[in-house]
Amino acid sequence: MATAIQGQIRVGTLDELIAKGCSVVTGGGHTIAVFAHDDDVYALDNRCPHMGFPLDRGTVKDGLLTCHWHHARFDLSSGGTFDPFADDVRSFPVTVVDGEVWVNPSPPESDPVERWSDRLHDGMEHNIRLVIAKSALGLNSAGADYKTPLRIGSDFGMTYSDEGWGQAMSILTCAANILPHLAEEDRPRAIYQGLRHVATECEGRPPRFVVDPLPTGETRPEVFKKWFRNFIEVRNDEGAERALRTAIEVGLSQSDIADMIFAAATDRIYIDAGHIVDFANKAFEHLDHIGWEHSAQVLTSLALGMATARRSEELNAWRNPIDISSMVWEARRELAELFEQGESKLGEWDDEQELADIILQDDPGATLDAIKSAVRYGASPEQLGSTVAYAAFLRMARFHTSNEFADWDTVHNTLTAANALHQALKRAPSVELARAVLDTAMSVYLDRFLNVPAQRMPTPNGDQVDAEAFGPQLLSQMNVQQQVEQSAQVVSDYLTGAENPEGVLATLGHAMLREDSGFHMFQIVDAGFKQYEERKGTDAGRHVLVALSRFLAAHYPTTRSVDQTFQIAERLNRGDELFRDDGE
Ligand code: FES
Repeated sequence: MATAIQGQIRVGTLDELIAKGCSVVTGGGHTIAVFAHDDDVYALDNRCPHMGFPLDRGTVKDGLLTCHWHHARFDLSSGGTFDPFADDVRSFPVTVVDGEVWVNPSPPESDPVERWSDRLHDGMEHNIRLVIAKSALGLNSAGADYKTPLRIGSDFGMTYSDEGWGQAMSILTCAANILPHLAEEDRPRAIYQGLRHVATECEGRPPRFVVDPLPTGETRPEVFKKWFRNFIEVRNDEGAERALRTAIEVGLSQSDIADMIFAAATDRIYIDAGHIVDFANKAFEHLDHIGWEHSAQVLTSLALGMATARRSEELNAWRNPIDISSMVWEARRELAELFEQGESKLGEWDDEQELADIILQDDPGATLDAIKSAVRYGASPEQLGSTVAYAAFLRMARFHTSNEFADWDTVHNTLTAANALHQALKRAPSVELARAVLDTAMSVYLDRFLNVPAQRMPTPNGDQVDAEAFGPQLLSQMNVQQQVEQSAQVVSDYLTGAENPEGVLATLGHAMLREDSGFHMFQIVDAGFKQYEERKGTDAGRHVLVALSRFLAAHYPTTRSVDQTFQIAERLNRGDELFRDDGE
């Protein structure tokens, strides 16, 4: 027998290998399949990179190895695959010395962050869920920051988006927003969900080309603001995009850019039922994660949607039987003066509950008067946004299940629009943006029929739910369809009884991530977490999570196919055996 070669594994004699065709050896933490084929010897990781099938059971022909589970094909010499759903399999150097075959089980490895980043690109391009899931987990295991997959997804989503910013980019942003509240193992799960929505939305779509900036010397923010608003008003998306692109290029501040976008987004009443403010706000939140240097690519994607959106004053519901549109326009005209009157008292106003109760009543005139009065008494734009958002959550908490199921989405839409407005007002408070408080309060009013009859808010029933019991109890409620009130009761009991109700957001986040959750789910979870954080430890905070849990429980469970893919990727990432041959 030959002398051992340091650091290498002896496979056997070349003659034995040629006779067998393939031998399996272990070392360096790997199981390695060594093949003799066409007068040469090759060594590959024996675990198929797709789902772990033993490759020594595959077929070798014409220099190709075919896995016998899902038939992925690999180049025997390099391990490269011809099937993007699989992955390249790792190859190992082989030497033959004195008729003996040796394998080096520990050759230098490529940078795993680079490798998984490339793989994520492939997964997004081909929209292959398993590859996206594996890459999100691979990057996480390699210690990459969540911003690495986020930037890859963002660049992909913003490139293959001829229609501009859409639902998938909002989902990806919501996923990034909720990460700090999630259990550690759910963080790559959230990123995966966001990325797979982007890949699906972009599939087959042509790319978008960001316009060049103007060759201009103009640098005044007020001029860019005027240009941008005028272009949106006359529905000229190309002009608006170029004005915005140039404003970014000449270095206008983030607050100037936010100011011009939000002013244009609210020049008309409740544009596209609040989606335009919502998308604009999400685009800014997205940049908070990936960096302002991506602003030209991200923000210009808003122009098309803003210019072409439906304006609510064009809708019958805003005109008849009460001309709410005219009432809002009248109140809008008074706002600037009212804010001036309230300036000396700014910060003194503290009547959120009272104003929210008025907004929920059946009198649009009284609502507009109450908002104007709050401004006069020192309510800030941010406080007004917060109050309307709270009222919208109360509308959801009191939504009665005797309504048509589709009407959950009606209250949901107002709620997410109100939360977006509140977040935008925190970022860029202005009298112009505060006009949307009036619009959004009217949307809460228009949803009033969905609280007739009103669902009773859960009250403590004496059941103590402790931290240990809470998660399993809520998740098992949501395993069964339509446990709407039961789920709300568990959340309410936990928040009422526990001294420090930890893990409530992590559990609600997990409840969403294990399901086939789409745009509405990510939106409401993100909005609910934000509104709860502002009211933690109060009854109002409890109301917010009651609303959120009721909406989730009404829509769950789903088939959970999206998470099943993630679980497969998790098991592969851990090195678990997926393939079981029960016949042996
Ligand atoms: S192709 Fe090999 S496990 Fe699926």
